[in-house]
Amino acid sequence: MKVFCGRSNPELSREICGYLGIELGKCIIHKFKNDNTFVRIEENVRGKDVFVIQTSAPPVNDYFMELLIMIDALKHASARRVTAVLPYYPYARSDKKDQPRICITARLVADLLESAGADRVLTMNLHAEQIQGFFGIPVDQLLASPILCDYFSRNGVENCIVVAPDAGSAKRAERYARQLGLPLAILDKRRDPLNDTVEIYHIIGDVSGKNAIVFDDEIATGGSMIETAHALLSHGARDIHAGAVHAVLCGNATQKLQESPYKQIVVTNTLPIEGGKKIPKIKVLSVAQLFGEAIRRIHEAKTLSELFGKHL
Ligand code: R5P
Repeated sequence: MKVFCGRSNPELSREICGYLGIELGKCIIHKFKNDNTFVRIEENVRGKDVFVIQTSAPPVNDYFMELLIMIDALKHASARRVTAVLPYYPYARSDKKDQPRICITARLVADLLESAGADRVLTMNLHAEQIQGFFGIPVDQLLASPILCDYFSRNGVENCIVVAPDAGSAKRAERYARQLGLPLAILDKRRDPLNDTVEIYHIIGDVSGKNAIVFDDEIATGGSMIETAHALLSHGARDIHAGAVHAVLCGNATQKLQESPYKQIVVTNTLPIEGGKKIPKIKVLSVAQLFGEAIRRIHEAKTLSELFGKHL
């Protein structure tokens, strides 16, 4: 087995290799003056089972192209099998044709990965589960819920209710509620697709006098989380916490979250959280062990089911 990584999240990749007890594979990646990407694999991979880790951090398009070039380079260097490991899947929110003349870009991403030569995909919490069906190759989707639930269980969930910030996340939030043994409330959130702003219309469930944990798959602008917190407070909720898998945190999201009513925002490191994104309110949990174990099991052709926690 060999594990390589692109330049999007070297820290997580090193942590994964630490769990596996192997060295990160050596490769050279740079850009020519004409903005073209160059990749050279610096180790023999002939006949090897290779995993390439690249998450969808900015610059998203550059890093995705880098991944495609790495996969192609590995296949042409006679790797036996190449698994693309995408902790945060690129363009996952472009998963359906809900406006005229738009691209289902998550599907295009799948086509491009297959064309480059990926034999398998390993990812975490896809925004839409149907993305797995965009591929003709096996896709393993890990869930961060055991990690997030374990954290909240150990840090107190008395008099608490789990909140889904919109109808789309209700099924996911229900999984967290079941795992934590808590009731569930669902918000009716509507997004203006043109200016990417959100508004909360109704709350289904009684949050009055309760502490709340809002679970979402990702935090991008922070708009959904912040509007949700205000709606919960205006309906009598007490302390509000958030749990999210992917900390996209674009623009001034970090600052807005620091100033928001949340007591704590718990995320994972599927995306790098560096510099100004490291704020006291944001607690980062590592998914390295989970990815490392999944990679080990894929390599040894063992089941991954045990990694999903009790409630699928
Ligand atoms: C939306 O459908 C997703 O589940 C998240 O709620 C969304 O991506 C969060 O985006 P933002 O932080 O920009 O509101």
